[in-house]
Amino acid sequence: MSDESDKRARVEWGADPVLGTPDEVTAALQRMVTGLLRTPDGAPLRALEAGAGKRIRLDVPDDAYIVGVDTDDTAMGLNPRLHERIVGDLHDYTAPARSFDLITCWYVLEHVERPEVLIARFAEMVAPGGLVVLAVPHLHSPKSVFTKCTPHAFHVWFRRRVLGFPNAGKPGYGPYPTTLRPAIAPAAITALVARHGLAPVFEGYFEDDKQTRFRHRVGVRGWRWSLARGLVRALSLGLLDAARSEYVVVLRRDPARTPVSTRPGPVGSPRR
Ligand SMILES: C[S@@+](CC[C@H](N)C(=O)[O-])C[C@H]1O[C@@H](n2cnc3c(N)ncnc32)[C@H](O)[C@@H]1O
Repeated sequence: MSDESDKRARVEWGADPVLGTPDEVTAALQRMVTGLLRTPDGAPLRALEAGAGKRIRLDVPDDAYIVGVDTDDTAMGLNPRLHERIVGDLHDYTAPARSFDLITCWYVLEHVERPEVLIARFAEMVAPGGLVVLAVPHLHSPKSVFTKCTPHAFHVWFRRRVLGFPNAGKPGYGPYPTTLRPAIAPAAITALVARHGLAPVFEGYFEDDKQTRFRHRVGVRGWRWSLARGLVRALSLGLLDAARSEYVVVLRRDPARTPVSTRPGPVGSPRR
């Protein structure tokens, strides 16, 4: 596929995942989220940013109540949208069942020891009709394979020296150590949440913008990029796709098939 056809996103959800640039896929995802999110009687949205870092990625209504959880106090302190900042490990965090309308975990699960535990917990914490939005590196890409096979010190060096981020590795700044467990593969995620009554309503793939900038810098674009993608695909027997280095999914709890519980307060608490 060429750069041009990469850009032609199929922007509405059908049977197939959306494929496009990061902006195109995120815009399609945002439309899906905005169209689906409802709260009973127009109550303010309750949102959890799991691994909030410095920013939130999705547009939510101004009156939404947003809880952030992150181990990195410095990064979360720079996040202006949070109403609550809970400093701690997500593995130790829990909230009442069905207590959030929207749970977003964007570029976090690749850093944790037990992503399957966190995904199952998100599935329990989301309200009927609510959404869980997950973004992770796509395990079936050369970028993920390369990241998995190289040490963290190299990732810091690469981001600082090659990609040109002078703060890389300093407090509040990535890269964060990666685990890239098999549980974050697309099929593993959807199989796990199905057991908790959630189903995907949107899936998308895109190429990491840092990878795009890097390969453009070294002249891998146009026909060279098509050739590189073809070679990667052939040599990996169809397993890896260089253009699908990132995966996003929106998971929804079926409002009809889940008993409606009372709406507990918006806050969660670290579990000790
Ligand atoms: C790559 S950043 C992404 C931040 C933000 N979600 C975003 O999209 O920009 C990863 C974040 O996950 C946090 N993190 C990593 N492991 C964590 C854990 N076990 N518990 C809580 N936060 C964690 C890091 O501190 C960091 O802020």
